[in-house]
Amino acid sequence: MHLELDGEGPLHAQLTRALKAMMLSGLGDGTRLPPTRLLAQELGVSRNTVLAAYEQLRAEGFIDARTGSGSYVAQPLPATPMPARPVQGDIGPQSVRARRMRDCHDQSAIPGRAVPGAVHSFQYGVPMANPALTTAWARELSRAAQYTPPNYPPTQGLPALREATCDYLSRRRGVHVRPEDVLIVGGTQQAIALVADVLLDPGDVAAIEEPHYDAIRKVLLSRGASMQAVGVDSQGLVVDELAQARAKLVCVTPSHQFPTGALMSLRRRMALLEHASRKGAWIFEDDYDGEFRYVGKPLAALRSLDRDNRVIYVGTFSKALFPSLRLGYLVMPPQLRRDFIAAKWMADFSAPGIEQAALAGFIASGAFERHLRRTAQELKVRRRALIDGLLACSRGRLRIEDSQAGMHLVVWLPGRGDAEVAELVQHAQQAGLGLYSIAPYYLRPQDRGGLLMGFGAMSVAEIEQALALFAQSLDAVFPVVTATRQRQPPVQRTTRRNRRGRSRAS
Ligand SMILES: Cc1ncc(COP(=O)(O)O)c(C=O)c1O
Repeated sequence: MHLELDGEGPLHAQLTRALKAMMLSGLGDGTRLPPTRLLAQELGVSRNTVLAAYEQLRAEGFIDARTGSGSYVAQPLPATPMPARPVQGDIGPQSVRARRMRDCHDQSAIPGRAVPGAVHSFQYGVPMANPALTTAWARELSRAAQYTPPNYPPTQGLPALREATCDYLSRRRGVHVRPEDVLIVGGTQQAIALVADVLLDPGDVAAIEEPHYDAIRKVLLSRGASMQAVGVDSQGLVVDELAQARAKLVCVTPSHQFPTGALMSLRRRMALLEHASRKGAWIFEDDYDGEFRYVGKPLAALRSLDRDNRVIYVGTFSKALFPSLRLGYLVMPPQLRRDFIAAKWMADFSAPGIEQAALAGFIASGAFERHLRRTAQELKVRRRALIDGLLACSRGRLRIEDSQAGMHLVVWLPGRGDAEVAELVQHAQQAGLGLYSIAPYYLRPQDRGGLLMGFGAMSVAEIEQALALFAQSLDAVFPVVTATRQRQPPVQRTTRRNRRGRSRAS
């Protein structure tokens, strides 16, 4: 009998596998197996090893042991799971959409993804660690787990959470809607997917700000939308650029343009609403961090000016609380309400009931807004520490886009392009500091380099330590030119042609 042992693990297990494979590959039913002593001699193993293998095969039903006359292959052999064949290359019959999704999907771009090995990191999208919030949330969650009915929650979301959301939107965001207008969703990410389901067919044009939140672009691209990047300046979206486009959907962040921080002016807001009404376009208002404005009061949302029901307003608890919650809300224009509810049902029936109940309790108790006030105070201090530190080490090399809002800053490196910013990012990483280029937030490569610096998760002390590393990398990669070296005329490295951004279709 020719048996090949695979060398993996104990000898009796190797022998068991080899005998099993031989039986399955056609050693006839009822065939007598060699006596244990003989097989042990043939293989040069101990008899106990063979006895253990036979015993295992007998226990699994592969052999029948007949007292006094030896062991026989069982009739019939038991069914056994065959090892899966290794997948060779990319041979799957994926759908067009699956391929599009895979092309757009880049794990490293998830907001909050850490730079490996970084001691400090200016990551965007990481919430502030807050033990008081954790305790209060744990209490709400355990209470909700006890009284929430275990059946499926309503597709639109728990009435208590929709009511609490309406109340909050009316007081803090100037948006006056009724609970039946609100759909509880799995964050902005699900909101944009539902919007694509409801409004877009492959090939439809969707306009996005340039630069923009890349996760939204990727969802739209994966649904086959054709993207039009529209420039942004200090007043937000350059609405005039929409005129040439046939965009069915326009995605904007009017309260705090992501990532530049620009606040959309009233004139532009009115122009955008007028454009949408005239062209029958829809506006996706992503109000992701409108709660955190450090000068004056938070601004009313664009939705508050919408008389023609063209705005799909979306808010998230990812910034106001924490992103692992995966909850947000979408204010549905009345004419699309049935479609959105159907799309949500198709996607997942509804958002998780216990978390919704806990959140409703947390908002209704006033704890949510107390938390927002405290968080805003702390973020303001952190933002100041970051700006002061950047100003101290800049020496003409940095230009800070200070929007007085949110949990991140954009810092331009005037005269430097993406490749040079990548050098700085790499140098910093080697020194243990996570830095993030602004490049992934553009549809088209830019010749204007900058950094997106998240500060929400860092204490003031951490910001200072991180800035010390930042200053070292900045000096190493872009040394300040001394007076003697300055005799040579500076080389014009880049132009600022996309400063205001231009409309582009793809
Ligand atoms: C512009 C923008 N919108 C929305 C979100 C939040 O998305 P979600 O609600 O899916 O967590 C983020 C998170 O980083 C963001 O930057």
